[in-house]
Amino acid sequence: MKQRDTKTLKIWSAGCSTGGEPFTLAIIILEHLKVMAGWIIEIFASDISEQVLAAARQGVYSESTLGSTSRNLVKKYFDREGDKFRIKPVIKNLVRFASLNLNDGRKLSMYSGMDFIFCRNVMIYFSDEVKRQLVRNFYNCLRPGGYFYIGHGESLHGISKAFKLVYF
Ligand SMILES: C[S@@+](CC[C@H](N)C(=O)[O-])C[C@H]1O[C@@H](n2cnc3c(N)ncnc32)[C@H](O)[C@@H]1O
Repeated sequence: MKQRDTKTLKIWSAGCSTGGEPFTLAIIILEHLKVMAGWIIEIFASDISEQVLAAARQGVYSESTLGSTSRNLVKKYFDREGDKFRIKPVIKNLVRFASLNLNDGRKLSMYSGMDFIFCRNVMIYFSDEVKRQLVRNFYNCLRPGGYFYIGHGESLHGISKAFKLVYF
């Protein structure tokens, strides 16, 4: 039998907090990537706070946290536990959580070959100098042609010229 080419998609949610972002990405991939056969999906999620990582690994959310998530998606990807909702293993198992200080450049180099990096609403806490170094490190962690997502209220103006702004 002819072997199918392996395709790998690597995504990193840097500063993932309680897991909303990486689990949302996992749900989007399962919903939209119809043909997953032959694909290896790796979603890395990191944060500096052990407290938020513990909550993320639990994957249990209140109705208000789920916000505007459609009822259909909630039914499909969460198990109800009283007044809480637990993310199903099919999603949870796609995400690998790890403790990481984004200012530790040496450790960041372990996150290489990413197709997508999300670092939203995290760099707001950093000085411009720290941001410049971090964005350089993120750039080096991306595959050529990879995408870097920042928060709506954030900008790379004065921080980096390595990225081209694109709209979808
Ligand atoms: C406002 S939350 C953003 C969460 C998520 N990215 C979002 O947009 O919903 C900021 C997160 O950044 C994390 N954080 C702050 N400083 C960090 C650092 N030096 N390294 C890694 N994570 C950090 C915090 O622990 C927190 O979970």
